[in-house]
Amino acid sequence: MTIPARTHSTVDDQIAKDILFIKGVNKFYETQSGTTHALENINLTIKEGEFVSIIGPSGCGKSTLLKILANLEKPSSGEINWGEKSSKDQIGFVFQDSTLLPWKNVLENSLFPLKVKKMDTRENLERVEYLLKIAGLDSFKKAYPNELSGGMKQRVSIVRSLSFDPKVLLMDEPFGALDAMTRDKMNIELQRIWNETKKTVLFITHSINEAVFLSDRVVVMSPRPGRIDRVFTIDLIRPRTVDVRETIDFVKYVKEIREVLGNDD
Ligand SMILES: Nc1ncnc2c1ncn2[C@@H]1O[C@H](COP(=O)(O)OP(=O)(O)OP(=O)(O)O)[C@@H](O)[C@H]1O
Ligand SMILES: [Mg+2]
Repeated sequence: MTIPARTHSTVDDQIAKDILFIKGVNKFYETQSGTTHALENINLTIKEGEFVSIIGPSGCGKSTLLKILANLEKPSSGEINWGEKSSKDQIGFVFQDSTLLPWKNVLENSLFPLKVKKMDTRENLERVEYLLKIAGLDSFKKAYPNELSGGMKQRVSIVRSLSFDPKVLLMDEPFGALDAMTRDKMNIELQRIWNETKKTVLFITHSINEAVFLSDRVVVMSPRPGRIDRVFTIDLIRPRTVDVRETIDFVKYVKEIREVLGNDD
């Protein structure tokens, strides 16, 4: 199915299909010091091509939820259903700290999942070349991680996670360690990559500004046990430029989300 051009913030409800159903998910961790109730009754449906951010206080279970979606953790109860069976095997994960292999250059790092998964087909190799281009890394293909800036490393991580053309991209605070200016640039870059590759993205952040800037919807979670407090639909025209942050609508969203979070940005 072709996803319509993103001229507007929200994916067209009439056309886009549901790709992921999170139903009544609870997660308890059993540790030596007792039981932690990390997630409580999480219900959320995600549409194909949607960009959804998750924001909430530290320890409210955001990473846990992403790990459950990536099948790295099991829910204690509830279920995860994918609209199409194939989607659950097509997940790219960008972790908070970029973990590039220091002895491999940018191109080799980007191709790494393809080698591991034995998916280094011509089509996939061409995709990586294309992604490196749109991520502005074309002339750094031979560079090693220690020759890159923090933002460039994160861009390589994003390219790497997209190398096998996953349907869904899970991103756990990918820009948390970056300075404000680089982070702004990465937000623009990510919006562009998302727009061009038409992925479904679940994005964790601690920044309300970042969440509003990037998202179709922002999911606000409560302190532990993490529950969904509120879901905001961000109705701002795309593509968004940094100037959007000066607009009344943008400021209003930020204020409302901050109120729900209790000034917790
Ligand atoms: N493997 C684990 N074993 C035991 N407890 C865990 C484990 N992983 C997470 N927890 C606990 O579950 C709760 C939620 O953790 P999680 O990492 O999901 O939070 P988070 O919202 O991502 O926080 P942050 O914003 O700080 O990254 C925390 O209390 C944490 O201590
Ligand atoms: Mg986390």
